[in-house]
Amino acid sequence: MPHSPIVARTLSSLHRARTELCKRNATLALVPTMGALHDGHVSLVRLAKKRAKRVAVSIFVNPTQFAAHEDLGSYPRTWKEDIARLTAEGVDLVWNPDATTMYPDGFATRIAPEGPALAGLEDKFRPHFFGGVATVVAKLFTQVRPDMAFFGEKDFQQLQVVARMARDLDLGVKVIGAPVIRERDGLAMSSRNVYLSPDERRTAPVLHQTLKATSKRMRAGDAFKTALADGAARISDAGFALDYLEARHAGTLAPITSFSEGPVRLLVAAKIGTTRLIDNIKA
Ligand code: PAF
Repeated sequence: MPHSPIVARTLSSLHRARTELCKRNATLALVPTMGALHDGHVSLVRLAKKRAKRVAVSIFVNPTQFAAHEDLGSYPRTWKEDIARLTAEGVDLVWNPDATTMYPDGFATRIAPEGPALAGLEDKFRPHFFGGVATVVAKLFTQVRPDMAFFGEKDFQQLQVVARMARDLDLGVKVIGAPVIRERDGLAMSSRNVYLSPDERRTAPVLHQTLKATSKRMRAGDAFKTALADGAARISDAGFALDYLEARHAGTLAPITSFSEGPVRLLVAAKIGTTRLIDNIKA
């Protein structure tokens, strides 16, 4: 029987657990999450286990990255299932602070990330988002003090923002990205997929199909602009409200119009019904 992870809910219990687990300089990896764990999270835990002696997972639904009109209240919370999965994966520690532990009375500091956080992708549609993410991730890093931390590439811009922030603030944490994990029909795994109605769920793979088809056309020599415009039309015709379908430099997130300018990442965000989905691929 695998052991349940230690669950820490206060900073003092977290620090005690960390000291105990990291005796004799054992390395520690962190997988930051908001819970509602799926196979994408499990893949991060497995990578973390390969790279570090000890693995911690944080479960904290971070209020500061949600705008007032977003889904903080209804965000899926599946604590029992999450702990069962983390136990089966042999995770050592779960950091599960409440909102007052993370943001005590009078909390008045917020990181304002720039660079990749102002690329005109997610930030254009969720202007509050990366400030909230950068602030909470910086706190998670200073609280847990991991040697490395794992983030999914599904949130490609988030990964760049967090990596930049960790470097800029000398947090001493190596930020490692991991590939998108998909359902059999190509839909990128996300905790928010549970919001999809059966009809929406059937339509949702159009995003990944369009990314692949657009990349194929670009690789075949079609102008990026034309391939992207046709992709955008396909997504809208399928019933999505499209926020963006864009080709960006994979390293800087700057707009890019040809393969000669550098590695290309295709990124999409669109709403189906009330659910907003994002996805991306290497073009
Ligand atoms: O990707 C997420 O689940 C969240 O944005 C993160 C990184 C855990 C910060 O709250």
